[in-house]
Amino acid sequence: MQSLPRSFEGARVLVGIGGGIAAYKTAHLVRGLVGEGADVRVVPTTASLEFVGAATWEALSHHPVLTSVFEDVDEVAHVRFGQEADLVVIAPATADLLARMRIGRADDLLSASLLVARAPIVVAPAMHTEMWEHASVRENVDVLRRRGITVLEPAVGRLTGPDSGPGRLPEPAALLDAARAAISAPRGEHGAIRRDLLGRELLITAGGTREDLDPVRFLANHSSGKQGWALAHAALVRGARVRLAAANVELETPPGAERSDVGSAAELASLVAEQRGQVDALVMAAAVADFTAAERAGSKIKKDDGDDDSVPAIALRRTEDILRHSVLDRADAARPAIVGFAAETGERAPPPSTSHGPRPAAREPTCWSSTTSAQECSVRRTTPCASSTARGRKWPVRRAARPLSLTPCSMSSSRSSRKYPDPHDLQRAAHLHVRIGHRRAPRQDLRPDLRRDPR
Ligand SMILES: Cc1cc2nc3c(=O)[nH]c(=O)nc-3n(C[C@H](O)[C@H](O)[C@H](O)COP(=O)(O)O)c2cc1C
Repeated sequence: MQSLPRSFEGARVLVGIGGGIAAYKTAHLVRGLVGEGADVRVVPTTASLEFVGAATWEALSHHPVLTSVFEDVDEVAHVRFGQEADLVVIAPATADLLARMRIGRADDLLSASLLVARAPIVVAPAMHTEMWEHASVRENVDVLRRRGITVLEPAVGRLTGPDSGPGRLPEPAALLDAARAAISAPRGEHGAIRRDLLGRELLITAGGTREDLDPVRFLANHSSGKQGWALAHAALVRGARVRLAAANVELETPPGAERSDVGSAAELASLVAEQRGQVDALVMAAAVADFTAAERAGSKIKKDDGDDDSVPAIALRRTEDILRHSVLDRADAARPAIVGFAAETGERAPPPSTSHGPRPAAREPTCWSSTTSAQECSVRRTTPCASSTARGRKWPVRRAARPLSLTPCSMSSSRSSRKYPDPHDLQRAAHLHVRIGHRRAPRQDLRPDLRRDPR
């Protein structure tokens, strides 16, 4: 049985619940956070208790639930909860709660805690499309994002009534991924996430391609898409726009990502060829088939019933090397920055030399570019927030923080049998440090362009 990642080991997570019908989904989020080692404190608004009662939150978080600043006053909860949090997640956030946050109200325990918190804050709004698109809500969201708060895009789909559109609370798995990305993101002022990728656009490939042999069979690989997804979440919370090229991925789309689904290596190749000129970085986390059927059979390949030993011979041909083509076809040697991953089994393969830079080495995230070296695309060690100083008094830290296991650019030295670095470890380590535009672009050009989309 696969064990759960312990991405939140020892971290104190404050989960705020607004009065929306989607509050029930947050029960799964709380369960997921606790399952991954977080010490969760749930703070519901009074209105939200009309939808999900305090007993549910108390049972799932193993803590008593308070909503008013005047409950258990001796504990000074309205200050302590915010101060002690390593991460705040609000799901669902109502239109009313967004307005209160924007103007800095402190008339209930949740909004008071938000004024005190110096941790990353992730807000997942959920409401009817008309409310979400109203000018006042748009403005509130823009202001909150400019303050460094991560306001997720709501999902699109069926709403409370028969209507559908943008406004759904993203599924708990997507919220958990966003929380994971937020807790390991680099911090700026007041503990907010540094939005150093604002104004940048990334194309991330994820998943595994499938090559049809006949109408019912295909050649595939074990890639789940989790690694590309983890990278997408990490880039989104840091302010980037993200396009996801998803090859057979059955995961919830990260809120705010623009997703295109593909099947085969050829479909992925044409999507990348079409879009790579429009982005600042291309991150190739998908497992792309190296071989495909030389000819796809028009009908199901049958076994010969008369001969028990007969097996069909299937001729294969090489697929396009998308990474190599992307490097060769770049008009501008600095844009997009290109990041590739190579999956190997056994010992690290010797890097074959090409005229276009080093071949990605085993399990090592590597820049493939004529102007950048492998070292420029590194995995940076950052302090995992789970190890942030425990100020716990009555909200004790239950478990010691787990030290981060990655070292810079050293995935390849691991003897682990995993094909890819664990996406959760990658995410906790603050991931890929992509120097966009090395050499051609002077250093100051790397700063985010604040005039563009305030997300
Ligand atoms: C059945 C029902 C469903 C509601 N769903 C939402 C919702 O999804 N989003 C929202 O912003 N408000 C919704 N509301 C309105 C809020 O509950 C209301 O604005 C409340 O004052 C919000 O309080 P809070 O922000 O303190 O939780 C709903 C109200 C009702 C009666």
